Amino acid sequence: MRILSGVQPTGTLHLGNYFGMMLPCIEMQEKGEPYLFIADYHALTQIPDPKLLSQRILDVAIDFLACGLDTNKTIFFRQTDVPEVTELTWILSCFTPVGLLERCHSFKDKIAQGMAPNNGLFSYPVLMASDILIYKSNVVPVGKDQKQHLEVTKDIAQRFNNQYGEILVLPKAIIQEEVAVVPGVDGQKMSKSYDNTIEIFGAEKQIRKKFMKIVTDSTPVEEPKNPDTCNVFALYKLFANESEIGNMRERYIAGGMGYGHAKQELFELYWEYFRPMRDKRTDLLANPESVFEILNQGAAVARNTANNTMTEIKSAIGIG
Ligand code: ADP
Ligand code: TRP
Repeated sequence: MRILSGVQPTGTLHLGNYFGMMLPCIEMQEKGEPYLFIADYHALTQIPDPKLLSQRILDVAIDFLACGLDTNKTIFFRQTDVPEVTELTWILSCFTPVGLLERCHSFKDKIAQGMAPNNGLFSYPVLMASDILIYKSNVVPVGKDQKQHLEVTKDIAQRFNNQYGEILVLPKAIIQEEVAVVPGVDGQKMSKSYDNTIEIFGAEKQIRKKFMKIVTDSTPVEEPKNPDTCNVFALYKLFANESEIGNMRERYIAGGMGYGHAKQELFELYWEYFRPMRDKRTDLLANPESVFEILNQGAAVARNTANNTMTEIKSAIGIG
């Protein structure tokens, strides 16, 4: 069973990305045959700065490897290292009704935010369909925001198969609804668009400051507090074990503990949780060639798979 997912290198990874996307990807390596790629062509729709784009690609690769991606189990590569994917994008474009793309929420949202709609942004879901179909992926774990793109993928694959026979595999989306939304320091969903993120990696002093800024209500220290409506507690639960969570819950309910204290403990847990990953990251940062080597090895495997599919497709459409 081929499991595939892609991550756009569009920003510094934060705790929402870690718990919502990275951890599920890292856990999924124990099942099936996982492929994970850095969607750098997709990121080009948002990052037209060459220095920034190449830096972000390296950063996201390093962060994934530091956080426990095991490349003996997962084929890890860059989208752009498999150029066949853009070739297939063109072929699939010829089976994609314009109306299907016009209905995509992510495209409509970007326009509503005032972005000028270039064709890359518009045909983004066709490139994504190509990413999925070229590796004959069976299962694609994605966040809720990508659900519609998976439906578009299936629709395109079905249209292609109707014309040429059962060549493409219709993927099954695994929507990570069960992954709780990680709140940001202001209590909204943590997102780089809301400027409310806490990064996975960063300087201790700055990150501690961010934890101290987490918004709480103004219940006085001595009074009982409700853990279930508190952003600090919501984040605490992500890092603590059962007994620590139970203990912290009792202290909220009992009163006598200030939010500052809870924030401090949360910060300590966070800092310890990522300590081994921080060390690994420092090693990788000092040795970027090893990261490129890993990505190249992954690309060779992915390219081989992609080429097999392309041979089949080209022969089916009459240009083999
Ligand atoms: P951002 O909102 O910061 O731009 P992205 O949209 O790049 O983040 O996020 C990539 C993936 O990370 C999402 O598809 C989702 O799976 C996960 N993710 C991002 N923010 C959160 C969050 N606050 N809680 C849970 N998962 C998240
Ligand atoms: N669009 C996805 C996102 O923004 C990234 C992505 C590109 C992807 N191609 C993919 C995810 C193929 C899964 C499968 O998160």
